[in-house]
Amino acid sequence: MAEDFLPLNGTDYIEFYVGNAKQAAVFYQYAFGFELVAYAGPETGVRDRASYVLKQNKIRLVLTTSLVKDSEISEHVKKHGDGVKVLALWVDDAAKSFYETTSRGAEPASKPQTLKDEFGEVVVASIKTYGETLHTFVERKNYKGAFLPGYRAAKSNMQIEPIGLKYIDHCVGNVELGKMNQWVKFYEDVMGFKLLVTFDDEDISTEYSALMSKVVSNGNGYIKFPINEPAQGKKKSQIEEYLDFYHSAGVQHIAIATDDIIHTVGELRKRGVEFLKVPDVYYDDVTDRVGKINESLEELRKLNILIDRDEEGYLLQIFTKPVQDRPTVFFEIIERNGAKSFGKGNFKALFESIEREQALRGNL
Ligand code: FE2
Repeated sequence: MAEDFLPLNGTDYIEFYVGNAKQAAVFYQYAFGFELVAYAGPETGVRDRASYVLKQNKIRLVLTTSLVKDSEISEHVKKHGDGVKVLALWVDDAAKSFYETTSRGAEPASKPQTLKDEFGEVVVASIKTYGETLHTFVERKNYKGAFLPGYRAAKSNMQIEPIGLKYIDHCVGNVELGKMNQWVKFYEDVMGFKLLVTFDDEDISTEYSALMSKVVSNGNGYIKFPINEPAQGKKKSQIEEYLDFYHSAGVQHIAIATDDIIHTVGELRKRGVEFLKVPDVYYDDVTDRVGKINESLEELRKLNILIDRDEEGYLLQIFTKPVQDRPTVFFEIIERNGAKSFGKGNFKALFESIEREQALRGNL
């Protein structure tokens, strides 16, 4: 087997550009149980932006807002609303990652640079992916600080109760009609990923709308990127609705793994997070489809958690409604019990649920 030219240790962080990072930080701390660990802004010598770094187990979210009228960040927020700017990848050698990918055709966004402070040094470099989204390679083996040089450790006054979110399971991109294969090829050729699964419109069409999806994964399987594109249906695909409001390709959802989805989702609901709803009849015959599971079906039904099974085991999953006013980014909470798939058996019930929401917004 050929050597992996782009070894990845995992997701380093996910950075959102938002309209109000201070308030977004409170939402993710309170509702999702993230802890504030670092901050950059005027108080740390950064004049044009403020960034809050939130952490829970292996997950790091960065929330960044612009402090000035005309900047790359304010333009991004104006066009896309709050959204994901960077899917950062943790590597041992950022310069090599940049070279290996750009020499295979990746468009550079920023060349390798070494950032230093009293806690050591970090090397970062970025390439462009779909829409205005970036992949930043982060090499932090010589760094002991809170996040990156330029940030200082921070703590909030809020009483934070973590809810068992463990790591990023996968991040999904929505791309324009006809562009899915091009981006799959990008991940294959430029980043050395492999095609894992294909879902065509037979798998995932409802009466009205449809989409197609392919999942690519890196060598060790730590990074999984499903790519969706709209497919023809009777009415507007949920992917088209996203593209209409995001005004470009971009990140559709971030799936976060938990070991105890009943606890995690119970807490999220208590704290006001809204989820897509599947009708109660979903649970009438779900056992016929998925067989025996360890959890109480009654509790799963109460929390509206979905179940699916593949050859290797089963999984439990649920999807939030969009987490900002535009119908764009949302989260998935997933607990895997052996299953390595993505919940194909739930697509129909889910997409019908999304369509009910689209109809309420007048976008179907
Ligand atoms: Fe997902």
